[in-house]
Amino acid sequence: MKIKRADYAGTVHDIRELLPEIAFSGRSNAGKSSLINALLGRKNLVQTSKVPGKTRNINYFIVETVELPAIYMVDMPGYGYARIAKGMKSEWDGLARRYFSGNTGLKLLIIVMDIRRGIDKEERMLINIASRMGVRVLVAATKADKVNTSEKIGLAAALKASSSAEVIAVSSVDRSGLAGVWDAIDKSIGIKRDHI
Ligand code: GTP
Ligand code: MG
Repeated sequence: MKIKRADYAGTVHDIRELLPEIAFSGRSNAGKSSLINALLGRKNLVQTSKVPGKTRNINYFIVETVELPAIYMVDMPGYGYARIAKGMKSEWDGLARRYFSGNTGLKLLIIVMDIRRGIDKEERMLINIASRMGVRVLVAATKADKVNTSEKIGLAAALKASSSAEVIAVSSVDRSGLAGVWDAIDKSIGIKRDHI
């Protein structure tokens, strides 16, 4: 994927232009922001952190590639960080509810999760929201560099069985799986690359 432009476009409150959206949602520290950077071939466009809970707002990045019309990649705050007070949880619920409700621009929900974890109630909730909205789901199983090849295959298969969604093992470190994520993005916005 040839990136022509990748810029921060503001938070959910600043967005005026309606473009197809690819949302990245998942547990705190799962690797959402790193995955967006890796997909865009940028080190620090999106802030990442060793400290969970870095992303506290819904951040939009406008992305133009040679192959696709302009899209937004949407970095959502993480959920499930144990040290964050209960108030944060309802803040996340509120943000997420407002983000998803009536969002006709949303084309693909990428659920970002550490490949070593199982599908939990929050991921289930996200899958349900997407299915009610008729939005495609991709599970991006991150940190695949932390396991060996046979573990990677087994863990991805188990996630596929328990989520009934497409699962791609990815790593922002060794960049494996990124092409598969781009293919899913392509498909979700209805562009067939071999027609271009
Ligand atoms: P919040 O913004 O807190 O919700 O976290 P996030 O999901 O955006 O995670 P972030 O991208 O900030 O990454 C969290 C930590 O995991 C950082 O220390 C990253 O360097 C690390 N990390 C992310 N992706 C990978 C990966 O594919 N492999 C490895 N080994 N580490 C990763
Ligand atoms: Mg983040």
